[in-house]
Amino acid sequence: MDNNLKKAVEQRLAAHKIAGQDQNIVTAGYVSAVIVDGGQVGIVLDFGDQAPGGASALRAAIEKDIQTIDGITATNVVVTASRPTAGRRQAGGPQAVKQAPELRPAPKAPPTPTAIPGVKHIVAVASGKGGVGKSTTSVNLALALQQQGQQVGILDADIFGPSLPTLVGLDKKPETKDKIIQPLEAYGLKLMSIGFLIDVDQPVVWRGPRVMGATQQLLKDVAWGPLDVLIVDMPPGTGDVQLTMVQQAPLSGAVIVSTPQDLALIDARKGLAMFEKVNVPILGIIENMTSFICPHCGGESHIFGHGGAEETARKIGCEFLGGIPLEMAVRASADDGIPLMTQTTNSAAQAAYGQIGKRIFEKLG
Ligand SMILES: Nc1ncnc2c1ncn2[C@@H]1O[C@H](COP(=O)(O)OP(=O)(O)OP(=O)(O)O)[C@@H](O)[C@H]1O
Ligand SMILES: [Mg+2]
Repeated sequence: MDNNLKKAVEQRLAAHKIAGQDQNIVTAGYVSAVIVDGGQVGIVLDFGDQAPGGASALRAAIEKDIQTIDGITATNVVVTASRPTAGRRQAGGPQAVKQAPELRPAPKAPPTPTAIPGVKHIVAVASGKGGVGKSTTSVNLALALQQQGQQVGILDADIFGPSLPTLVGLDKKPETKDKIIQPLEAYGLKLMSIGFLIDVDQPVVWRGPRVMGATQQLLKDVAWGPLDVLIVDMPPGTGDVQLTMVQQAPLSGAVIVSTPQDLALIDARKGLAMFEKVNVPILGIIENMTSFICPHCGGESHIFGHGGAEETARKIGCEFLGGIPLEMAVRASADDGIPLMTQTTNSAAQAAYGQIGKRIFEKLG
């Protein structure tokens, strides 16, 4: 299904041109990535050295056009170039990038992973499918690991839809010392996200970067250490951006998040395959939204079916780390920017995060 949607998106893209140019943007080679995940589309237009003046208008026109394709629920077009768009407002204007550290262009080929100074373990939290709860799980697992006495950081690697700023209720720009970005801190966690560096509501026209360069910089140019565990909240899906991240980060292991529905499980297997390709060990599978706990009566019901992730884990020979129930408090705490694990409620989801965090701590050794 994704493939058909992707084709439809690519066809539409071929109808767009930069004003004054003969070739369409596909033929001209500006489309560097099309990522279709469920109904969400991420498109990267890479203009190489410098984006032309009409880039923002083009971006808006493409988003409007792609939205009319049947089955597309959200479209995010990212425009990248090494230098600012011609004619774009200077930093400080309403469309400006936050006064962020200068971002570098990507290197030609992905480097082999090199250790991040002062960081003992890097753990990716991933899924094949979007919206299964990776980001929420990442934050709460980070706090569960912290409760095991660990120093923990979170890298939000979702450059199309960063969610860490909302999840921890933080909207600040990081400082730079000697060209190294200082991570932000909340709840005792070190945090970094593209959302802290750019204005996510505004057209994304970065000053320096290509997408991969930005991803790499979040990993390598941030003063992460000292940390026991750095959790990398992966973008949804298994495309080029994800693969680059997996190739560049010296990962100790990956945790796969899935929901109980069959489709999500098939996608979880895709997620697993991506890590196997680069020999990263799978720490286990988490089944999120495994059951519904009624906020009124406390009764538990399995609205999506149950146990699918556990069965999948058994079949493919990796550990089932546990299930996290669907709880109103998980969602509300995420929306409020006060993660559930920092709260003194006594909920089943909290207990589940705690147990899974403990197990991951044991497995990391
Ligand atoms: N156990 C849970 N109970 C209730 N709501 C949940 C639970 N886990 C996640 N959610 C909610 O589901 C939504 C999607 O979660 P989240 O953003 O963490 O998913 P994601 O996999 O990171 O998404 P994306 O693929 O877009 O990055 C959020 O609104 C979140 O609050
Ligand atoms: Mg997410």
